[in-house]
Amino acid sequence: MTDDGLDARDRALAMELVNGVLRWRFRLEALLSTLLRKPLRKKDADIQLLLLLALYELIELRTPDYAVVNEAVALTRRAGKQWAAAMVNAVLRGFIRDRQGLLESVDRDDVARFSHPRWLIDLLTRDWPDSVERILEANNRRPPMWLRVNRSRVSVEDFAARLNAEQIAIQRHPLVDEALKLEKPVDVGRVPGFDAGLVSVQDATAQLAAQLLAVRSGERVLDLCAAPGGKTCHILETAADIDMTAVELEASRMQMLEQNLDRLGLHARLIVGDATGADAWWDGGLFDRILVDAPCSASGVIRRHPDIKSLRQADDLKSLTDVQQRILVQAWRMLKPGGTLLYVTCSVFKQENDRQIERLMSACPDATESAIDEDWGVACQHGRQLLPGDMDGDGFFFARLQKQATQDRDTAITG
Ligand SMILES: C[S@@+](CC[C@H](N)C(=O)[O-])C[C@H]1O[C@@H](n2cnc3c(N)ncnc32)[C@H](O)[C@@H]1O
Repeated sequence: MTDDGLDARDRALAMELVNGVLRWRFRLEALLSTLLRKPLRKKDADIQLLLLLALYELIELRTPDYAVVNEAVALTRRAGKQWAAAMVNAVLRGFIRDRQGLLESVDRDDVARFSHPRWLIDLLTRDWPDSVERILEANNRRPPMWLRVNRSRVSVEDFAARLNAEQIAIQRHPLVDEALKLEKPVDVGRVPGFDAGLVSVQDATAQLAAQLLAVRSGERVLDLCAAPGGKTCHILETAADIDMTAVELEASRMQMLEQNLDRLGLHARLIVGDATGADAWWDGGLFDRILVDAPCSASGVIRRHPDIKSLRQADDLKSLTDVQQRILVQAWRMLKPGGTLLYVTCSVFKQENDRQIERLMSACPDATESAIDEDWGVACQHGRQLLPGDMDGDGFFFARLQKQATQDRDTAITG
């Protein structure tokens, strides 16, 4: 039993239903509105949800049709809405009678076919005209479970052998040695060595950040938007003898970072603070390397968080891009001459990505790009983008900047 009183199988089914409805919400709603004679009233939102759940189950899962219909009708009665039982039955049977025809008809509209809100489809089309369908389809797939082996404690080969012994099948990642994909996601409690800190759960593309920051022994490192600490911990696993400071705005999220550090046996200086106002907490010491894993629209991780499609609005981008730029400007002040800043987002929107680097570079003449000389993803005006689903990872943007060392600057000015 888990804390919510469900056994593991029921919990997995509940998660599948909730995530599935959130993923396919726009298509399911379009379908339901063609099946209902008139829209349900606000106070019957429970029936609306029940119908969306049942339609999802009929379309995507292998539950027999009769079981879905019987269960939906029984739940309607249990909700005390006897009057709706016949309607629920009729709507679901109506769908079963002409499943193919109804789906083809609603799928004529892209919002239903790709199950994304219009503004999101429009923005993706503007930024990625040649890849938009690929992105939309990847956003609707169930995400894989990637592990990050803690190589400071165990070799990847030894850990892979432990998984093998537990009959957990895995695949390797082409770029990140310590990233292992489980062929079938499992409850984290079943991953051997998790509690002992041998391994963490982290998307493989997210694991590229530590590689790109490439910290060296003895360096002073700052992680400015750190919780829950996936990247902080990964960086420390690659070089424990660094002086790591992790800053996070939300105290409750900082607790998650603290728990991760404890579990993995790692140490960092933790500051609950606002990265847009470093004067409130910064001691004035400069850093060799800074990671800015900025708060963003999360448009690259929709497959993991399908509620983003319902919760985010186009208007959010304005305040997000303002905060991103303010964090970058503060980070730049705290970087040593000669130091490296890695800017990361889990967004695919250019205004949150290479445009932010462009803005920073025009405001800071001592900023030069330290090109990511790789062949993965898409080379942007600045930095590189991996789109959702590339190498079965999440969508992330990475750009690296270097602060000109003082003597380089002097030479540039006098020469
Ligand atoms: C993309 S998440 C970071 C994920 C983290 N780096 C990891 O790998 O686990 C962005 C984080 O920035 C935090 N944040 C948002 N605004 C901030 C600010 N002004 N100052 C510091 N942290 C901020 C958010 O609470 C969130 O935890």
